[in-house]
Amino acid sequence: MSLVTAKNLSKTYITGEVGVEALKGLDFEIEPASFISFVGPSGSGKTTLLNLIGCLDKATEGELIVAGKRVSDLDRRQGADFRGSALGFIFQSFNLLPVLTAYENVEYPLVMIKNESKATRTEMVLKVLESVGMLDQKDKFPDQLSGGQKQRVAVARALVTQPKLVLADEPTANLDHATAKNVIQLMRAMRDEFGTTFVFSTHDPRVMHEAEVIHTLEDGRLTHTEQGSDRRGNHD
Ligand SMILES: Nc1ncnc2c1ncn2[C@@H]1O[C@H](COP(=O)(O)OP(=O)(O)OP(=O)(O)O)[C@@H](O)[C@H]1O
Ligand SMILES: [Mg+2]
Repeated sequence: MSLVTAKNLSKTYITGEVGVEALKGLDFEIEPASFISFVGPSGSGKTTLLNLIGCLDKATEGELIVAGKRVSDLDRRQGADFRGSALGFIFQSFNLLPVLTAYENVEYPLVMIKNESKATRTEMVLKVLESVGMLDQKDKFPDQLSGGQKQRVAVARALVTQPKLVLADEPTANLDHATAKNVIQLMRAMRDEFGTTFVFSTHDPRVMHEAEVIHTLEDGRLTHTEQGSDRRGNHD
């Protein structure tokens, strides 16, 4: 069964008198444990689409099923609950809390969302920090870390609740090319280790080919789908 199914998915933003058709009848499926990118020029609808999948906004038309849930029917509260339990997010600007250490940033979703004991939390946080290669930096604050290190912590934070799906809108936009490629490859390694599906957006052609499947958006339509250069079992 697909992890994400979109049927005739459409989103129109209404601002004043005019409507902007940001997504125009998308149909696609995302398989469990896959590594997917959505690419396309500025304004093509990438953020809008990730916001719909992430239950941060609602479709105007069509059907969207995420991890067995018809999220197009959820109200705001139900969407927030679903988001906390089933999804992880990675942001372009890292969004780490500056007053918390790397360790505390990763622990935060477990404190807020999941009612885990202190001992279980410690075990989960240390395991995921080790997986992203940040165990030795765990007591540093975000402003003591490089951009790439911050994004590694953010990847750990997204994974610590063991979500089925991690959504990342332009996760490499604030990183230089080498670091960007590194972070995408880390995400792919995390997919391999935990079986978590990753969906990321980018307009950087240099990182989009790290995905297994690349969906191209143009002016709110899905115009092209291709296999990435680096399919599973074919890593360099
Ligand atoms: N909150 C909003 N209200 C009105 N229009 C919006 C809103 N958000 C996005 N849009 C419009 O919807 C379209 C798609 O925008 P979106 O942000 O999804 O594109 P994008 O592919 O993420 O672009 P970028 O690469 O610049 O991040 C654009 O025409 C944009 O102006
Ligand atoms: Mg965007």
